[in-house]
Parts: sequence; C-alpha cells; structure tokens
Amino acid sequence: MKKFYVTTPIYYPNDIPHIGHFYTTLAADILARWHKLKGEDVFFLTGTDEHGKKIETAAQKKGEEPKEFVDGLIPKFIEAWKKLNIDYSRFIRTTEAAHIDTVRFMYDKSYKKGDIYKGFYEGLYCTGCEAYYQEKELETGCCPVHKTKVEILKEESYFFKLSAYRDRLLEHYEKNKSFVRPESRYNEILFRIKEGLLDFSISRNSFKWGIELPFDKEHIAYVWFDALTNYLSGVNYLTNKEQKYWPADLHLVGKDILWFHAVIWPAMLMSAEIPLPGQIFAHGWWTFNKEKISKSRGKVINVDELIAIAGVDAARYFLFAETTFGQDGDFSTEGLLRRRDADLANELGNLVSRALTMCEKYCAGKVPVYKEENCALGAGEIKEAAISAVARCCQCMEEIDFSGALNGIWSFIKLLNQYVEKTAPWKLAKNNEKEKLDTVIHVMLEGIRLTAVLLGPFIPETSEKILGQLGLEAQEKISFENKAKWGQLQAGTPIKKGKILFPKDLTTKNG
Ligand code: MSP
Repeated sequence: MKKFYVTTPIYYPNDIPHIGHFYTTLAADILARWHKLKGEDVFFLTGTDEHGKKIETAAQKKGEEPKEFVDGLIPKFIEAWKKLNIDYSRFIRTTEAAHIDTVRFMYDKSYKKGDIYKGFYEGLYCTGCEAYYQEKELETGCCPVHKTKVEILKEESYFFKLSAYRDRLLEHYEKNKSFVRPESRYNEILFRIKEGLLDFSISRNSFKWGIELPFDKEHIAYVWFDALTNYLSGVNYLTNKEQKYWPADLHLVGKDILWFHAVIWPAMLMSAEIPLPGQIFAHGWWTFNKEKISKSRGKVINVDELIAIAGVDAARYFLFAETTFGQDGDFSTEGLLRRRDADLANELGNLVSRALTMCEKYCAGKVPVYKEENCALGAGEIKEAAISAVARCCQCMEEIDFSGALNGIWSFIKLLNQYVEKTAPWKLAKNNEKEKLDTVIHVMLEGIRLTAVLLGPFIPETSEKILGQLGLEAQEKISFENKAKWGQLQAGTPIKKGKILFPKDLTTKNG
C-alpha cells in the first residue's frame, strides 16, 4: 500500500489559533483526505512548538510557568481543529518526553560527526521569529516579518556547520527539481544556497525554557532545531525501527518559514544521516480586507469568527478556491459570502436540490433507469466531461493545486446545470417521454454523485450529506477507481431529499 506522510508546521501556542495556523492545517487535511480516498496509508501530523523565548516571555507576562501556560492553550488548538473538521493522525507537543529524546539524539549525532562546535554569538535577534537577522535583511532596523525592533543578543553558543553542507544541498536540489514548490520558491532558495551558507547558532544559555543539550547542561536547544525534529518524533522515528512513514512525503509551510525547512532541516538530516523529505511546499499569506493580519490592530480571524460567517464547509471552500495555493490571498467576509452564494448555494446547492426534487416528483424517489440510446440528449458529453473532471482533479491534487482542482469540479457542475436547462425534464414529463426523462434524471444524479466524491476532501460534511441523500452511506470500502468511475448509481436506489445545503441564514442550517 502506498503511504503518504504530510505535516504542518507546529504552531507556537502563545495565543489562540488564527488564519495562519488553520490555513496550512486545512491544506494538510484536504491532502490527507484526498490520499485516503485514493486508498493510501496516510499519516497527517500537526502539533505545537512549545519551547523558546517567545513562549517563556508570553508565560511570564501572564505570571505563569511556561508549561502551565501552554497546557492552558493546547485545548484551544485541539478544539479548533475539531470545529474545522480536521482529521489529523497525531497532535505532537514538543514538551513530550519522546520528542525531547529525539531532539537530544539529533544533537548527539551531529556533535559526534563534528558538525557542532562552541563559539560566541553576537547578532540581531527577533523573538517573534526566534531567529537572528543580518543587518541587510532588516527593514529600517526592524524585522521584515513582524516589523518590530530587533534586539542585540550576545551569548556563548554552539554552532551548526551549515556552511559544510552547501555542496551537498546544491547536489540534492539539482537532482530533485521539485524538492521545493512553487517553482519560483525553489529558484529563490537555490540562488540563496549558491550565494553561500553561514554556520548558525543552535543553543541558548541566556534563558531556561528548552531542552538541555546532551553534551552540555548549561545550554538549551535552539527552538528551531528542537521544532524541526518533531517531523521525526511525530512518527516515533527513534523507537520504531520498522519506520514506514519516514521520509515525509510533504512538509507544508508558510513562505516565511521556508528557509528553515528547505535548507536548515535538510542539512540537519544530512548531518544525522537520515533520508530527506520528498517535498516542501510554501504557501502565501492572507491579508484581511487588504491589510496585514495583525493582532495589535484587531485584524485577526479566529476559528469561531470564521465559522460564524457561513459555516465550516463554506470557509474551507473559500480559502482554497479563492487563491492559488502558493500565492498570497485577501480574506474578506464579503468575499466568502459571495462565493458561498454563487458557487455553493446557487450552482452546487440548487443542482442537488433540483435533481432530488425531480427524482421525487417524476421517479417516485428512486434512481431511474439510464438508457444508453438516449445519449442523444447530451448524456455522452456529460460522461466525457466527468471523465476529464476526474483526470484534472487527480492531476491538480498531485501538483497541490487546490484551486485548479476546484475550478475543474465547478466547470463540471456548470455543465450539469446547463444540461438540466437544455434537456428541460419538466417538458419531457409533460410530453410523457418517460425513458428520456429517466435518463436525464439519472445523469443528473450520477453527475452529482461524482461531484460529491471529488469534493469530499474539501467539504467533507457537505459531500457526506449529498451521498447520503443519494442513498449511498457506507462508501469507505469502495476503491477510488470505482467511486470515480462514471455510471455507479444503481437504478432503483431510494433517494432521501434533505434540507437545503447552503442556507443563507445559518440558524436555519439543520440538514
Ligand atoms: N513554530 C514555528 C514553526 C515550526 S515548524 C517546525 C512557527 N509557528 S507559528 O505559530 O508562528 O506559525 C506560523 C504559521 O502561520 C507559519 O506557517 C506562517 O507562515 C503562518 N502564517 C502566519 N500569518 C499568516 C497569514 N497572515 N497568512 C497565512 N499564513 C500565515 O512559525
């Protein structure tokens, strides 16, 4: 059985989850569901990054111990993922003992290899990023990500010999052209590696909240070295000798943390002689009404606010239909409602509702018989379109092009709506053309079934509802090939018309 191991960044639990956290986690959920649909053995890892100065400072502000502080916030993440229908395999916390052991193992391996040496660091540090910056990277003296002042940090520190990995990294990039995606990001990182790599500091001794190094108790692990290792501890790399998930197939990350994943992480793995992940995909950032998302200006979107606008599935759909994954996007309530009304309620919802109503009215609520000789009505065209919608969806999902996949599905939905208008089943009923009428309704229902299958990973609740309305409940055991094949609906199956799929007023949502 093919396996698929996908990860999200692990998030700093210094506040409740916002759009930056749930966007990547939803993307991973969609991919995990897609690969499961294809019959693969999927492992989907997410979690929290709980050490470091940023967390220590946030805890101090609340007058709490760091562990107590993060323990209070973790349920917020778990609840949020549940509300958004995110079905992960494991939620890892970097304060877990097994993770701590894996981090020590990584330090130990590199130390013994001679890739770690002691020195003294003086540099410009942004606690928001937990990263040092060079003068030239700053924007008017401020961190380019957080726009806040950086501080000068001076400390005795252990260094990792990143510079020694330049050639091996270049070779890996040359041999694996899709190691980083989108392609523009691959080129950007390759260019920066070619420019040269600097050794970097991987320990701290100016504060306490972190993992003690195995070879020096005075120092704690650098939070990024600690965090990146979660991708190994998440699948019990250290204790599970018959490792079936590592190497990860895909690390999903935001564009701001690509360097850590595309350069530092592979070098750490090379140093520890562990195989590298298959691909790292960097997505863009969202703005809110065209403005930077910022807590201080009250421009954040949390999970409850998001769901309150139009429900979970409309939100899931909007985030992945609106922008090409990899590019920046703009979030607005109006934009979300527009898509809910136009795409979900009008195009998808009405199609489903019309097809089921007609099936009840003209076919006694049972899937009618499909007659091949009635293809003259355009059923052949629909069948062809269905086959290419499936192929396009598969191709796009391979390339992690969510909006491309959704566009393909929506072209098919539009075609089905045109088919209803063109064939006008109500006229066929009036003229007593029963066989033709049956075929048209069968084609509509089969088109809807296939649409629901393809939409499953994106809007799982809606997809399940539609399949349930078509009398198709237990679908797990059916292979993707069969589900995605045209012509699976059995004549005679009773349908169950439910409540409307995307009501404008959420309080009436009960189907
Ligand atoms: N703890 C590190 C990751 C360690 S992974 C080994 C971290 N945590 S974080 O809580 O700051 O996560 C931030 C994530 O949210 C990043 O992937 C970042 O790109 C993403 N976003 C933050 N703001 C964002 C938007 N406005 N839009 C989309 N994603 C953004 O970094």
